[in-house]
Amino acid sequence: MRMPLFRGTKRWVVIVAAMLLSSLLLSACAENSPSVLNTFGPVAAREASLFWFTLIVATIVFVIVEGVLLYSIFRYRERPNSPNPEQIHGNTTLEIAWTVAPSIFLFLVLGATIYTMFGLSDLGGGNKVEVRVVAHQWWWEFDYPNYNIVTADSLHIPAGAVIQADLASNNVIHSFWIPALSGKLDVIPGHNNQLLFKADMNATGQKFLGECAEFCGAQHAHMRFDVYVDDQNTFNRWVSVQQQAATPLSTSAACKPPIPQSDLVACGAKFFAQGACVGCHGIVGVNLNGYNDPKALGLVGPNLTHFGSRDLIAGGILENNPQNLALWLHNPQDVKPGNDMPDLGLSQDQINALVAYLESLK
Ligand code: CUA
Repeated sequence: MRMPLFRGTKRWVVIVAAMLLSSLLLSACAENSPSVLNTFGPVAAREASLFWFTLIVATIVFVIVEGVLLYSIFRYRERPNSPNPEQIHGNTTLEIAWTVAPSIFLFLVLGATIYTMFGLSDLGGGNKVEVRVVAHQWWWEFDYPNYNIVTADSLHIPAGAVIQADLASNNVIHSFWIPALSGKLDVIPGHNNQLLFKADMNATGQKFLGECAEFCGAQHAHMRFDVYVDDQNTFNRWVSVQQQAATPLSTSAACKPPIPQSDLVACGAKFFAQGACVGCHGIVGVNLNGYNDPKALGLVGPNLTHFGSRDLIAGGILENNPQNLALWLHNPQDVKPGNDMPDLGLSQDQINALVAYLESLK
C-alpha cells in the first residue's frame, strides 16, 4: 500500500524536495563559521571571485554534458519496435568539436587562475607590517621583528596595512590560513614561505578565526588563533604595551601551603622562576633579557611576557581565564594529549599561585 502522503506524487519529486530541504537545513550549520566567501580583504576577495568564476564555468559544462546525456537516454531509449538510432562513431567534425570546446573552457579557467595569482602579490600601498609566523605542534607563535614582540595564539594587525607573513616551522608541515583574509599557504620546515595579505578598513574592530589547514599530528584540529584587526592607533597602543618587559618579583614569603591570598602573585613568580616553567617559557624581564634574545625564538613553549592580555591559550582551544589556566596546569596532557607540555605534578597551591601570577602579566 502506498503512503497517503506520496499518493499521486511522483517519487523523484519527493526525493528532489527532500534533498533541497536538507541542503537548506545543512546550510544553517554554516552560520557563524568562517567562510572563504565572506571576505574582508583583497586576497580572500580575489580568491573568492576565482571560485565563483570557476563554479560558473563548471556549471555551464555540467548543464551541457548532463543535458545531452539525459536527452540521449530518453530520446533513444529501448522501445518496442524502435529502430536503432543513427550511428555517429568516427564523425570527424564531432570529434574535433568536443575536443576543442572543453579546451576553451579549461583555458578560460587557467587564464583566470593566472590572472588571480599575479594579482595576489599586488596589494597596493599602505604601510607594511612584517610578522614571522612560527608553527609549533600545536600552536602559533607571532614575532614582530621590527617591534621586538614575540607573542602566541593572537595575531594583531592594523587594518589597511600590507601584512607580510614569513612562515617558518622546525617540526612538520603546517598550513597558515585565515579564511576571511588570506588564502592557505604551507608552512614547510627548511623552506620559509612568504604570504602577503591585507584586511579591509571596514574590518576594523573585527576578530577573525585563523587555523592550521594541513594535517600535522594528533592535535591538528586544535591549532587555532584569533586575528584582531585594529585601527592604527589601537595597534600602536597594543605594540607599546607588548614592548614592556615584565617586572621581576621577589618575595621573602615561604610560599608553603596554605599560601595567603596576598602572597599568591609573588609566590607564582617564584615558582615560575625556580621551577620547570623557565625551561620552556620566556618572560622578558624575568628570564629573557630582551625580545632579541635568540632563546626567544628557540623556545619550546609560548613567550608568556603578556600572557594575561591574551584571549586564548593552549593553541587557541581554551579561553584565557583562571579556571581554564588551572585546568591546563593541572595536567596539560588531559586537555590536549600529545602536546609538548608534560604533567608537572603541581600541587593545588602551586597552581593557584601560578595562575595568579600569569594572569597578572597584562
Ligand atoms: Cu598544524 Cu595542522
